Amino acid sequence: MSIIYRLRNIRKSYGQRTVLAIDDLAVRAGRLYTLTGANGSGKTTLLSILAFLTQPSSGELIYGGGPVRWNNASLLTPRREVTLLHQAPYLFNGSVAGNVAFGLRMRGIRGEEQHRRVEEALDLVGLAGFGQRRARELSGGEAQRVAMARALVLRPRVLLLDEPLANVDRQTSDLLEKLVVALPGQGTTVIMTTHDPEHPDRLGGELIHLVAGELAGPAPAAASPVKEGEYQKCRPLKKPAASFLTA
Ligand SMILES: Nc1ncnc2c1ncn2[C@@H]1O[C@H](COP(=O)(O)OP(=O)(O)OP(=O)(O)O)[C@@H](O)[C@H]1O
Ligand SMILES: [Mg+2]
Repeated sequence: MSIIYRLRNIRKSYGQRTVLAIDDLAVRAGRLYTLTGANGSGKTTLLSILAFLTQPSSGELIYGGGPVRWNNASLLTPRREVTLLHQAPYLFNGSVAGNVAFGLRMRGIRGEEQHRRVEEALDLVGLAGFGQRRARELSGGEAQRVAMARALVLRPRVLLLDEPLANVDRQTSDLLEKLVVALPGQGTTVIMTTHDPEHPDRLGGELIHLVAGELAGPAPAAASPVKEGEYQKCRPLKKPAASFLTA
């Protein structure tokens, strides 16, 4: 399977402090990764770099076969292909449907297709019929689901999820988990951060674990199926990502 991201000697520093130091990491297209690590270990920083929102202080990021050039014009296409669901998502004032449609509008998708895709996305996250509700009046968990719908509706090539299940109840978390594990089967590469120790095993896929900004793997690098020198400290998990369509 092809590699969609490759990070080489990536460093991110704030002042004298290096908060991320990744020597070599390859992310394969169409796979699910869980990203774990303690508070402050660099997870959000890594996702922000992968979303092309934070430029590394040094090192090389390769995306889709070529080195990323950190200027707005070059980043236009990659930024449209990669969607980041923020750790604390922000909903705009207005309707739920208006929020979910935002990215579609930016891409020139309007009218009937926009309407259909918004309805589909709300349905997927269990919020059918919520379109005309005021987004700011939703509960925290409902807002989180709207933010997930806003990300899913774009059908991104890569979906980066920063603790999407942190504030939702068990039923919602089960629903969103099923959605997330089904995405690689539809061709989307997913990287999701979590503090839930059960998630990596339950979701399947591969584990990227950060300790103080560096890759750390509970399994030796040799256990990884990636060719030698390619990476890494991802831990391949035994269980394949189950598809909710076949569950
Ligand atoms: N803009 C910034 N300026 C200075 N330091 C920053 C900035 N952004 C992040 N950091 C620091 O970088 C480190 C990594 O932060 P990051 O948000 O990536 O951690 P995290 O693994 O996502 O943590 P959490 O689990 O709490 O979300 C932290 O020590 C943080 O204080
Ligand atoms: Mg974070």
